Amino acid sequence: MKQSPIKILLIEDNPGDARLVKESLAEAGTTLFEVTWQKDLANGLAHLKKNPIDIILLDLTLPDSAGFDTFKKVNEKADHIPIILLTGSKDDILAAQAVREGAQDYLVKGQANSSLLVQSIRYAIERKQIEELLRENETRYRAIFEGVGDAIFVQTLSGQILEVNQRACEMYGYTHAQFLTKTVADLVPSEKYIISFDQKESPALPTPPIETINVRANGEQFPIELSSSLQKLNNNPVLFVVGRDITERKRMADKLDEERITLRTLIDNLPDRVYVKDTLGRKTLSNIADWQASGGKAMEDVIGKTDLDTYPPELAEQYQALDTGVIDTGIPVINREEPGLDPQRNPAWILTSKIPLLDGNGKVTGLVGIGHDITERKHAEQEIQRRLTDLNVLFESSLALSSQLAISEIGKKVIEILGERLEWHHAVLRIRKEESEELEVIGYSAPGVDQENIAVEINRLNSLISHVGQGLNGWVFQHGEGVRSGNLSADPRYIETFPGMRSGMYAPMIVSQKVIGVIAIESEIDYAFDKHDEQLLATLAKITANAFHRNRLWEQTEYQLQHLAALRTIDQAISGSFDLRVTLDIFIKNAVAQLGVDAALLLIANPEMNTLEYAGEVGFHNSTFKNIHLRLGEGDAGRVVLERRVVSIPNLHQADKPFKNLDLAASENFISWQAAPLITKGQVKGVLEVFSRTHLDPSPDWLGFFETLAGQAAIAIDNNQLFETLQSSNFELAIAYDETIEGWSRAMDLRDQETEGHTQRVTELTLRLANSMGFKDAELINIRRGALLHDIGKMGVPDSILRKPGPLTDEEWVSMRKHPLFAYEMLLPITYLRSALDIPYCHHEKWDGSGYPRGLKGGDIPMAARIFALVDVWDALTSDRPYRKAWSKEKTVEYLREQSGKHFEPRLVEIFLKEVLHE
Ligand code: C2E
Ligand code: SIN
Ligand code: SIN
Ligand code: FE
Ligand code: FE
Repeated sequence: MKQSPIKILLIEDNPGDARLVKESLAEAGTTLFEVTWQKDLANGLAHLKKNPIDIILLDLTLPDSAGFDTFKKVNEKADHIPIILLTGSKDDILAAQAVREGAQDYLVKGQANSSLLVQSIRYAIERKQIEELLRENETRYRAIFEGVGDAIFVQTLSGQILEVNQRACEMYGYTHAQFLTKTVADLVPSEKYIISFDQKESPALPTPPIETINVRANGEQFPIELSSSLQKLNNNPVLFVVGRDITERKRMADKLDEERITLRTLIDNLPDRVYVKDTLGRKTLSNIADWQASGGKAMEDVIGKTDLDTYPPELAEQYQALDTGVIDTGIPVINREEPGLDPQRNPAWILTSKIPLLDGNGKVTGLVGIGHDITERKHAEQEIQRRLTDLNVLFESSLALSSQLAISEIGKKVIEILGERLEWHHAVLRIRKEESEELEVIGYSAPGVDQENIAVEINRLNSLISHVGQGLNGWVFQHGEGVRSGNLSADPRYIETFPGMRSGMYAPMIVSQKVIGVIAIESEIDYAFDKHDEQLLATLAKITANAFHRNRLWEQTEYQLQHLAALRTIDQAISGSFDLRVTLDIFIKNAVAQLGVDAALLLIANPEMNTLEYAGEVGFHNSTFKNIHLRLGEGDAGRVVLERRVVSIPNLHQADKPFKNLDLAASENFISWQAAPLITKGQVKGVLEVFSRTHLDPSPDWLGFFETLAGQAAIAIDNNQLFETLQSSNFELAIAYDETIEGWSRAMDLRDQETEGHTQRVTELTLRLANSMGFKDAELINIRRGALLHDIGKMGVPDSILRKPGPLTDEEWVSMRKHPLFAYEMLLPITYLRSALDIPYCHHEKWDGSGYPRGLKGGDIPMAARIFALVDVWDALTSDRPYRKAWSKEKTVEYLREQSGKHFEPRLVEIFLKEVLHE
């Protein structure tokens, strides 16, 4: 290897390529090479003539010569100097021809890096030397032959290997000796290197002379490039074949291709748009995403074209303005939001970056653009913003409507809240009057309409759409489905309430499957409302419906509770007082308060006189009706009695039948009058008239309550009349009863001959004892009746037993002992005497339980019967009986004492004796 620099003549017209070669060589070491650059053939040859040169790097396409000719001209003048050709990638055939003609090598421009270039130069020089040496000195060739990096085969024209160098042995994995037994066919899978003997005299070179094959050596496979040249060896023509290991060159080329493909794949698969534009705005590269945004154009129609050819003009101009800025200033644009088109050519948003491309001198040669689609993000942002607003509206309305507002207030509030949200001309909230087909506006608002005009407007709206089924509102009431229209005039259901309305939304307020109201919004803008607006309105309508429902329930509950309380008060008055005047006074005051009227007059029917008479009044300023006597059928109240139904005149000044008592209306300033007949058990008991100084158009609820109150008054009057009748008849009956009882008891005594006066005596004595023991009047009445009737059961005992002068037989006793049971059975059906049964039923029970009929013991025996038993035995013993004479008082007292704790309660014996012996 020479130590002095290798002198290179570079003949190349392209300064860029020349610079590249120079730089590549300099990279290998600045002292290794000395390069002279000539731009054309003439100068190149001129330089050759005068200067020693080691190697020539030759571009075949020069201003003064082109193609193979260029090589020939140089080679003629520099037969001994190796030549390496610099070619374009498509010139390999040309290059191959040149190599066949004696060029040492060729390099494809752009593929040759520094190491490849240096290697090629070295080999070329060395190979040239071999050739020279072989020619000049065949004995000395071997050293050089072996020093070359390439494999060298020398073969006969028929393909017999004559000589190989060490590198060839290494490449193929044969020893030198093995190699010399091979033919070319063993080495190369082709016949190309075998030249027939026929051609010995003028042998044709194998074609193509340079070939890349894969050789297997030590199991490894790598490409070598074969070239051959015909030489004379000892005057014999031989084929010199040079095998160059081009692994490195191939790797470089493959890598370049691979890199290019990888990059392209990468760019094409980016979801973002990537494009390259030149300074004139023409696209030189467009990835798939970018190309798709062109809206169905072919790739060829995008490449080389400007945005004006591809996009709608406004967009294109906007893009171009941005491009121009980048190209003119060299300042990139990074992440700028721009309107764009999505692949389906819908409006979209793009985040654009445009980066200038600079050449070696810092001059802008174009730009690389990246467009990132942010449409979804933008929409999501807008959507979120919108949802937030909607939520806010709904939240506010829920809050506002959760408080206990009156229904009309809810209507106003909803309309107010809506006004903050939607693009509208006006909003109307209508409700259906309860249980009717009539509609009523309870909320209306339009931007800019003042409070005074609202009432007028509401009247107007009510007259235009007043019933279910009318207009779009009426349709929604009827069908319970919302309507959204962007073109109202095309809808046959639409009734114009404001001129020039284009869009409308109507949402039903539904409670328990019934449409109770409709919220309507209209706008002068075409298609002013979208799905979201509709949804918002629907939700709001739901909230409103709930609020209505809740409040209506609440109001109703409240109303009913008050009514119940009033009815209860009146009930209590009726049952708690026997005085009808007190009852009716409570009644009439409650009625005025609960019905919300100013005055009331109560008249009671007198059936005997066929008149209505005063029973109470409240609330009159200037009048009194204390002396009123109306004939039935006379006056407005009389009419109510005859018609037996509620009559209502909400406006006395506009009544169909003139209100008879117009003077009264005038003097008391009454506007409304209602009257109800007081009916119970089919009888009219009177009339309740109520008067209002304000307009009262009663609801069905009100009328229902009015009738209930009237019924209540009727019952009060009826009860009172009943009670009075009952009271007198009761009194008479009671007297009749007691007379009967006393009659019975006298008859009893008479039957029981010798006990004459017994009943009267025991009754009186028992009452005396009971009274002294603190029995109450009502109990004493029963004791009296019981004592009088105590032996009434003896009516079931035959005279033969009852009047038997001697002791009773067992059989007779069975009959006699039944008399208390007979008394029980006789008296039980008489309600009036039921409370007096104790004595007749139990007067023969004994304290120790040995009595009859049930054998009751001690405290189980009713007190009245315990007392009476003492009195009865006392009186029996001290009286004559058919079966024995009367006992003395002393004997009887002794007997009672003896029976204390047996027959009688001891405590009572003491009380009795004290009472009787004191006399
Ligand atoms: P009464 O004559 O009115 O007697 C009522 C009760 O007084 C008797 O109930 C008995 O507790 C008592 N008593 C009356 N007389 C005597 C008596 O002489 N000695 C005693 N220790 N107690 C006497 P009692 O015993 O359950 O009798 C109920 C009824 O049966 C009597 O009512 C009477 O009508 C009848 N009776 C009772 N003993 C006889 C009898 O020996 N001959 C007849 N013919 N009737 C009798
Ligand atoms: C362009 O500027 O050419 C296209 C717009 C973009 O994708 O950024
Ligand atoms: C309105 O609300 O303005 C009336 C529209 C209609 O119900 O047709
Ligand atoms: Fe008795
Ligand atoms: Fe008796």
